[in-house]
Amino acid sequence: MNILIIGAGGREHAFAWKLNQSPNCTQIYVAPGNAGTAEIAINLEIEVNDFEALGKACIKNKISLVLVGPEEPLVKGIKNYFESKKALKSVKVIGPDKAGAQLEGSKDFSKTFMEKYGIPTAASQSFTKATFNEGIAYLSNCQMPIVLKADGLAAGKGVIIAQTLTEAKQSLEEMLLNAKFGTASDTVVIEYFLKGIELSVFVLCDGENYIILPEAKDYKRIGEGDTGLNTGGMGAVSPVPFATKKFMELVEKRIIKPTINGLKAEGIKYVGFIFIGLMNCEGEPYVIEYNARMGDPETEVVLPRIETDFLSLLVGAAEGKLNEVAYTTSKMVAVTTMLVAGGYPEAYQKGDAITGFENIENCLLFQAGTTSSKIGGVVTNGGRIMALTGLSNTLESAILKSQKAAQKVVFKDKYYRKDIGLDILRTK
Ligand code: AMP
Ligand code: GLY
Repeated sequence: MNILIIGAGGREHAFAWKLNQSPNCTQIYVAPGNAGTAEIAINLEIEVNDFEALGKACIKNKISLVLVGPEEPLVKGIKNYFESKKALKSVKVIGPDKAGAQLEGSKDFSKTFMEKYGIPTAASQSFTKATFNEGIAYLSNCQMPIVLKADGLAAGKGVIIAQTLTEAKQSLEEMLLNAKFGTASDTVVIEYFLKGIELSVFVLCDGENYIILPEAKDYKRIGEGDTGLNTGGMGAVSPVPFATKKFMELVEKRIIKPTINGLKAEGIKYVGFIFIGLMNCEGEPYVIEYNARMGDPETEVVLPRIETDFLSLLVGAAEGKLNEVAYTTSKMVAVTTMLVAGGYPEAYQKGDAITGFENIENCLLFQAGTTSSKIGGVVTNGGRIMALTGLSNTLESAILKSQKAAQKVVFKDKYYRKDIGLDILRTK
């Protein structure tokens, strides 16, 4: 089977690495991919939202399964596009259609959905330009801190946690009246602040059946000790000790089952991943957000722990037969550390040579913002450069493997957090 992976990050390199192990995988293509995917697949120079070119590439290369990495093509309706074209109808697309992707594409939709189906989440209310004054009045009655969220996609930047009422009012004004996040903040969801520990839970769904993938903890802030600006993710760990059997049973009963049933009740046939960002508030799970895809860098710790042939899971999802696939995961601990360009998540440089690959031992390497240089070698091409995943029997040794590898890679102004997983190690 020929497969097309859409995207260019560490998540997509990890997908390619995992699918490459499948006996039924013939050739993998990645659009647009990076220098890492180029080593095990064929990169296609096509942007992730160019549906027409992606469709043509599928026909030309006899692709029968498309795995969509990032959210944008899903929210823009890549699945609907493939279903609307006669020549592409038979291609299995892993990822929800436009209606299903609203779980991520519209916070207003996802909050209304959670309220309708009794899924625990922070109390909230939505406001637009027309109801700005009501929004200000609503804020005056809220306890601080309070959370303001742009309704639409804002490249992970659309959430503001305001510490004071003045800051909250100012943020609401900037978002609604001054289009701080463009049209994404035409509607703003104001929601109560949840205090607790975050957890990422992943579900693969075939429209009817589902499997729960290994959970993960993401390290979102740039600085050690969870300080500084938010990033796409600086590292991840799986499994997560506070995701106990008891807690995960609650998550399944209160969140996963009602989500799947709610989607069905809405007439949405959801084939793909649901990434549930949760807050564990003293043992009670609350949904912070849904994503219609896998996380990055969470994928880089989740996939190494899946024992089942990953392609058989994806085909099972596409064919509505996930219940027939034997699914097992490993008890090994995975820790990934993300190397980033100096300056990230603000302005950073591209085009710096990366060396030291040959010195990496006992560690998985998933490239992200990299590209092959015209004069040979690999150069930086983004903010997040690569994820180094240590896999081991203990958390301690998985951390060590990942950190050792992080030291070995060399590029100008390299930065990475040295505390990924240490908080978990301390509480164990
Ligand atoms: P999101 O873009 O929805 O993932 O939000 C970004 C981050 O903001 C989350 O990972 C949380 O750390 C934080 N956050 C979002 N909503 C809440 C909330 N209701 N209470 C506390 N923190 C939140
Ligand atoms: N690591 C968070 C995300 O993929 O959205």
